[in-house]
Amino acid sequence: MRSGRSTSPGGHTRVVVLTADDGFEQSVRTTFGASAQIDLEIVKGALSGRDSIAVDGATVVVADLEAGDDAELAALERFMARIPHGPPVIAVTSAFDGAVARRLMQMRVADFLVKPVAAVELVRTCARVAKAPANTELTEAQIFTFLPAVGGAGVTTLAVQTAMLLLNSNPRGKTATCLVDLDFQHGACADYLDLEPRLNLGEIEPRPERLDRQLLEVMLSHHASGLAVIAAPNRPAEMRSFDPDVVTRLLDLVSSHFDFVVFDMPRTWFSWTDSVLLGSNRLFIVSEATVPGLRQAKQLVEAVRERLGDGPKPQVIVNRFAHKLFSSGLRRGDIEQAIGEAFVACVPNDYALVREAIDRGVPLDEVKPGNKITLQLKNLILTQAAGKAGKEMAGGARKPRLSWARS
Ligand SMILES: Nc1ncnc2c1ncn2[C@@H]1O[C@H](COP(=O)(O)OP(=O)(O)O)[C@@H](O)[C@H]1O
Ligand SMILES: [Mg+2]
Repeated sequence: MRSGRSTSPGGHTRVVVLTADDGFEQSVRTTFGASAQIDLEIVKGALSGRDSIAVDGATVVVADLEAGDDAELAALERFMARIPHGPPVIAVTSAFDGAVARRLMQMRVADFLVKPVAAVELVRTCARVAKAPANTELTEAQIFTFLPAVGGAGVTTLAVQTAMLLLNSNPRGKTATCLVDLDFQHGACADYLDLEPRLNLGEIEPRPERLDRQLLEVMLSHHASGLAVIAAPNRPAEMRSFDPDVVTRLLDLVSSHFDFVVFDMPRTWFSWTDSVLLGSNRLFIVSEATVPGLRQAKQLVEAVRERLGDGPKPQVIVNRFAHKLFSSGLRRGDIEQAIGEAFVACVPNDYALVREAIDRGVPLDEVKPGNKITLQLKNLILTQAAGKAGKEMAGGARKPRLSWARS
């Protein structure tokens, strides 16, 4: 474990930033300059151009380097070697690839970020590495899982919106939230948020023990809102089943580093599906208001109950619900009757709104604040999320980790 981390007199946090980039310097000054608790020191110039850098008394060091330049990486390596018990170092780079990631991991940087770095992400990362050194303090996420009863019912749409609601559920700031697309074959989360998918399970599979916090960071995509997303590039023609150990290890890692985790599940039942469902705090089955849709939802509720026993109770959401007077379509009463006590909510149909949000890669609330879909989800998600999180923080029983839930 690294020691030598300190706060300057008066309990202030001292952030030392090494950079040669005027734009980055400016954004760091704007980010940290306004805070009375943070003493910011900028050391200007390329890393490779100096033989000694004074970081005494720093709480965190942010090293901005040209990762494509080997001299810069070598300079950081020397710098890290000189301060084995020094403060945690966050590397910031503009170019990024697997080889650079590996070099940075070997140097034992505390974390790394890729430019452009959002202010909120930099602050959060500094706070995290300053507080949680090598033996990272683990949290236990609240897990929300969305399971499709029929194709195209809206699992991805509802999972994305739920993740956004959870992210913004604390009025004092963003809550660490991760959306995980487990639909490896037809995943759409990254597309819906206009992000580059970065998860490469094939790379982890041969040596799952390599999967740690830093490798996880390489495989995360970051949305401008602050939401973290784990999604793999789609392989529509490939029906691959990954080793359940790799999947559950990934999920354990995610759930110990975020406050909220949202899973977008595929329709196919894989060997790791039971563990994901068992580890969930809320389990939603998404269907549509058609007779076959309700039938499939009911069958899935029964199958899940049978498999999970005393585990989380499946709750059915009927999405794209259009309430029309005098129409022959299914009414809410019919749905309640068909599904029984597992029915939890109808989410209204608004195709124009959903399509615009997807096309722009933004949450529904940004397209139309106060829209009915978000309001309905808020009722469903936030009331219980807040209550539950509060209870767990007060020392409630910890739930087993996902890999332990496996039978
Ligand atoms: N509440 C809704 N109102 C209108 N259209 C919706 C709604 N939810 C989802 N959609 C649309 O339904 C289609 C399928 O949604 P998606 O979330 O991709 O489903 P799934 O992940 O279950 O396949 C998309 O075109 C999406 O825009
Ligand atoms: Mg989907």
